Amino acid sequence: MRDLETLVAEPTADFALLDSGHGRKLERCGPWRFIRPEPQAMWAPAADDWQADGEFVGGSDEEGGGRWRLSDAVPPAWPIEQAGVHLHAQCTPFRHLGFFPDMAPHWARLAALPEGSEVLNLFGYTGVASLVAANAGCRVVHVDASKKAVEQARANAQLSGLADKPIRWITEDARKFVAREVRRGRRYDAILLDPPKFGRGPEGEVWDLTDHLPTLLADCTKLLDADSRVLILTTYAIRLSAIALDGLLSPLVTSLPGHVRAGEMTIREERRGTLLPTAIFARWSAGG
Ligand SMILES: C[S@@+](CC[C@H](N)C(=O)[O-])C[C@H]1O[C@@H](n2cnc3c(N)ncnc32)[C@H](O)[C@@H]1O
Repeated sequence: MRDLETLVAEPTADFALLDSGHGRKLERCGPWRFIRPEPQAMWAPAADDWQADGEFVGGSDEEGGGRWRLSDAVPPAWPIEQAGVHLHAQCTPFRHLGFFPDMAPHWARLAALPEGSEVLNLFGYTGVASLVAANAGCRVVHVDASKKAVEQARANAQLSGLADKPIRWITEDARKFVAREVRRGRRYDAILLDPPKFGRGPEGEVWDLTDHLPTLLADCTKLLDADSRVLILTTYAIRLSAIALDGLLSPLVTSLPGHVRAGEMTIREERRGTLLPTAIFARWSAGG
């Protein structure tokens, strides 16, 4: 078995993990500080007296629920920069901040693609990865089941001055879209998929990661050819190992040049440098 890889998202001007411990994390997002639950942070925090503008309380990873307790000063949305693009950060009902900073190492791979590359971003949410690829001169297809998420992604494109770039915004069930692309004989240079544990397509199509990922991934690999560069799969909040993702992806790309790497995604704490694990990934790439 190949060694597992640890990807690290480093602190940035507009987002940093400031401290973590006792099941919580303190983050800076733009000018605001937030406390969110973090079951993986089982260690003691560096400091006890966290000053924050908001905290997500209640709920749990499994059942969801919970709500934000925000100071009046926190606006509904505020602009930040990530990986050279701009987006509207916000406190969402699902305890998110409108983007996933741990995706930074994957954004860097998209930013390094040759101009004109065809990129497919599945489960694209608010579109940071799509904008990073468009900013690098790629032609992008952004697919998400949520009309609201696609609207937010388009608003982020506007904010980033990328609204005129070749990005196709698709509101559709990922499995349906990919199956149709396979029938059409389409191909892509890069594919990114970041599926949730559970989800629903715009027509109520059920997405269950453990049941549906194998078929979706197999279809995605049919959109790759010998000139393709990379396929990145990430999953989070699910009892799965990176070795399982490697085991799923590797047999599907044996006819392609290159190799598969798998491992953990982490965020580095700004002060102590402690790594907070966030998700797992498997990545096929033609080169290194
Ligand atoms: C956590 S987000 C992905 C985050 C994104 N990769 C990013 O880095 O910003 C999961 C996304 O999957 C979408 N989704 C859920 N079920 C889906 C389905 N069946 N087809 C397509 N998208 C779906 C949700 O609307 C949500 O935007």
